[in-house]
Amino acid sequence: MPDVAQGTTVAPPDEHAALYRHPDRNIALELVRATEAAAIRASPFVGHGDKIAADRAAVDAMRKFLGTVNVAGTVVIGEGEKDEAPMLYNGEVVGNGLGPVCDIAVDPIDGTSLTAAGRRNAISMIAASDGGTMLDASSVFYMEKLVAGPEAIGLVDIRQPIEENLRALAAASGRRPSDLTVGVLDRPRHAELIARIREAGAATRLLLDGDVAGGIDAASEEGRLDLCVGTGGSPEGVATACAVKALGGLIQARLAPTSDTEAQRGSDAGLRIDHVYEADDLVAGDNTFFVATGVTDGSLVNGVRRLGRIIRTESIVLRARSGTIRRVIADHLAEKWLEE
Ligand code: FBP
Repeated sequence: MPDVAQGTTVAPPDEHAALYRHPDRNIALELVRATEAAAIRASPFVGHGDKIAADRAAVDAMRKFLGTVNVAGTVVIGEGEKDEAPMLYNGEVVGNGLGPVCDIAVDPIDGTSLTAAGRRNAISMIAASDGGTMLDASSVFYMEKLVAGPEAIGLVDIRQPIEENLRALAAASGRRPSDLTVGVLDRPRHAELIARIREAGAATRLLLDGDVAGGIDAASEEGRLDLCVGTGGSPEGVATACAVKALGGLIQARLAPTSDTEAQRGSDAGLRIDHVYEADDLVAGDNTFFVATGVTDGSLVNGVRRLGRIIRTESIVLRARSGTIRRVIADHLAEKWLEE
């Protein structure tokens, strides 16, 4: 295992806090080491049927590497409550404290079941933004989301029927609804939505899991999806917003509590249940960062590969302020990772 700090955090001296409050550098280029580590550590579990073990390995590796990154971060969006998975919990302080004050969203594996089953499209991801800018939607687990590329802005709206959105999107680019492909999580709750999309003439691409990667695909120029819709995790929605901002696309979301108790918990936490959350409500400002490393091969990035003495990872690194999209292929010496 490479020599990393053990996740301890020191309080930033005042002069550091002042210096780094409005960082210019791309901290995602440091954060990517943490998603690479999580993906590498999860990779021995790919296809072995144990999603909790895969997630635990990813969480532990991510936490250790986050401890070495020059940020004073607070996890606003953690994960794991849903299945009592091992988690980087909300409110956890991460980073070495010697950098910008940041909100952090983590999903050490988005697609734990995909990983356990050896299926495509599992990623490890981290999003970051200026301190105090991320919506803490943790009290309501699910969110209805709509994600599309820049061309959809002003035409497509989560309040409109899906048929209207498909017509508007197609017309804007001189296409027909039958030319469009829509990503939707393959869940019984989406049966009617899927039927309506198909009835309108568009194709569906049903996602087994992983609506962060699906949303990014829909928002990006080179993606295969024109739209990604449906209800998925709220944490994933906020993280997706950090990426969509960098891609210039459209994201809207509406909380989808599954019980009155959950709706009440959301309201008590200051969330607005029927409100349409726009990108700026999910994460304010343009200083957002998003990084993802493939655990298994997928449409966004390839997964971890062993090539003799090398472990190869593929990541994307997005920064909203500069609009840069980097693809990072890293070769890691396998022996360093096999010591532990
Ligand atoms: P996990 O890997 O954390 O289980 O999340 C996978 C995922 O598919 C997310 O991408 C999505 O937002 C959420 O689960 C949907 O939840 P559910 O599986 O309960 O429909």
